[in-house]
Amino acid sequence: MTSCTTIAHPSLAIIKYWGKESHGINIPAVPSLAITLSKLTTTTKVSLCTQADTVTIDGKPQAPDQSNRFFDYVREQTSPECHFKVESTNNFAAAAGLASSSSGFAALALAVSKLCNVSTDLNDISKLARIGSGSAARAVFGGFTSWNKGAESATQLFSPDFWPELRIIICTTISQKKTISSRAAMNQSAQTSPYYQAWIEQSHKLYTQAHKALSHKDLPLLGSLTRQSSMRMFGVMLSATPPILYWNPVSIALLKEIETLRTNGIEVWETMDAGPQIKCICLLPDVPVIVYALSKIIDTNNIVVDSVGTGVTFY
Ligand code: PMV
Repeated sequence: MTSCTTIAHPSLAIIKYWGKESHGINIPAVPSLAITLSKLTTTTKVSLCTQADTVTIDGKPQAPDQSNRFFDYVREQTSPECHFKVESTNNFAAAAGLASSSSGFAALALAVSKLCNVSTDLNDISKLARIGSGSAARAVFGGFTSWNKGAESATQLFSPDFWPELRIIICTTISQKKTISSRAAMNQSAQTSPYYQAWIEQSHKLYTQAHKALSHKDLPLLGSLTRQSSMRMFGVMLSATPPILYWNPVSIALLKEIETLRTNGIEVWETMDAGPQIKCICLLPDVPVIVYALSKIIDTNNIVVDSVGTGVTFY
């Protein structure tokens, strides 16, 4: 076998991973909880080659520093001769705060492991994917996932069919590439925010509460914790030096609209990642009224109603 194609979906954190115990190999300083999405998809073809590694995403060549560490790690585990040609495509905006690196490295880890004849056990794939991007450790698994503080790999908490009515509404406010990567922003937060230690200290409690709320399918509680985790993460970013601000005016208009919906009794809860996009969790019957309200602010072409998806697979 000289080439292999895999597909994966982004991991949307409801309790955020923001901070590392160990830099370089992405060991998390906080526990996180996430949903693997379904419609947003990354398809990655990897071919063995003898020259330097090359990566294109949606046809655009990528700088080697994005994946060097990942490939070097693979070579340490396999053979120094192995090099890879990677062609990856997304059906959504890449590097814009929609967790494309989570699905990208999950897909890459499975394809590379298959090509190099190393273990394709999902725990091992999760461990490897994590080297490329922390959140990729979770995207390897479908359904609802957890990644503990200090852990080398993530785990599946509940399968994709655990909560069939749950929906995730994804609003893309702008598809431009972000100006600061999550890796750089995370390091800057840890090194300079006076609130970073408080963030680490509160994370376990938030995670435990969210885990319980999820197991009871308690949307109001889970939603409120989801919002808290994301806002607290931004509290850390905003208090970094220099401050990190991913939001744009459309993000704020959407946040306000979601707040109004809640005031009017609609159960909808927002979260954001390292980018200006808004994702909300809600239940299926409320989708039409929520999409109608959000479409007053952004075009419906930029709204995706998603559900819980499966983990990484071969194409
Ligand atoms: O794994 P990275 O480097 O893409 O960082 C992910 C950071 C967040 O998306 C903001 C949070 C998370 O848990 O996915």
